[in-house]
Amino acid sequence: SRLFRIAIDGPAASGKSTTAKLLAKKLGFGYIDSGAMYRAVTLKCLDQGVPITDTQKVQDIAHHAKIRFPSLGTVELDGKDVSTAIRTSRIVQNISPIASNPGVRATLANQQRSLAHANDPAWSGFKHKNTEKIRGVVMDGRDIGTVILPDAELKVFIVAEPHVRAQRRYDELKEKNSLAQGETVEAIAQDLEARDEADRTRKVSPLKKAKDAIELDTSHKTIDEQVSAIEKLVYDRL
Ligand code: C5P
Repeated sequence: SRLFRIAIDGPAASGKSTTAKLLAKKLGFGYIDSGAMYRAVTLKCLDQGVPITDTQKVQDIAHHAKIRFPSLGTVELDGKDVSTAIRTSRIVQNISPIASNPGVRATLANQQRSLAHANDPAWSGFKHKNTEKIRGVVMDGRDIGTVILPDAELKVFIVAEPHVRAQRRYDELKEKNSLAQGETVEAIAQDLEARDEADRTRKVSPLKKAKDAIELDTSHKTIDEQVSAIEKLVYDRL
């Protein structure tokens, strides 16, 4: 069987993870949410009272954190399901110093690369032209196409207009009943912009479109259209 790796990068709330998850499901591929790993390290620091600016201590936390993806869309930290706990605003407000810590990035990069090479038996894959078995992984984040999997078989850079992203995030929070008191679309737009700015301007592995990545603007696309567009790119490359 052949291994096919799909790297999906882009700014916050661009629709990366929803698209990546559905795509993985359709192709029978594994899905690795690299952002969830940074979120899990942040959660562990906050829980253990480690100051997020203590570079060395945070690095140790990352080194000893056991992060797993036991099933599509769930995240486990040290044996505990943290899928919901990592999605709060407290996490994103504290994540930037952790995502720009070189030691944390080195540790998580190693884990991400070995997860992508694992060729997990749970990834059933699909049959191409009824003969060749294609198995693989979809990984989303900020530096997957540039740093983590620079030789991925397909790289996609997802973008969407800022107001569209803010509205989507607002609707998502409302749907989950997680909107904070008085939280507005404008406030969310500002938070997203601040996080993107931090991600774009950090020294180590900044958010950047890889030269050979295909840009996909999802501003006026439905989820199904986004998934189909990437699926087509996969078949074009086989
Ligand atoms: O993708 P998500 O929004 O969950 O990522 C949360 C944060 O984790 C990002 O804003 C970024 O700071 C960091 N991150 C990163 N590199 C990745 C994935 C996420 O720095 N590959």
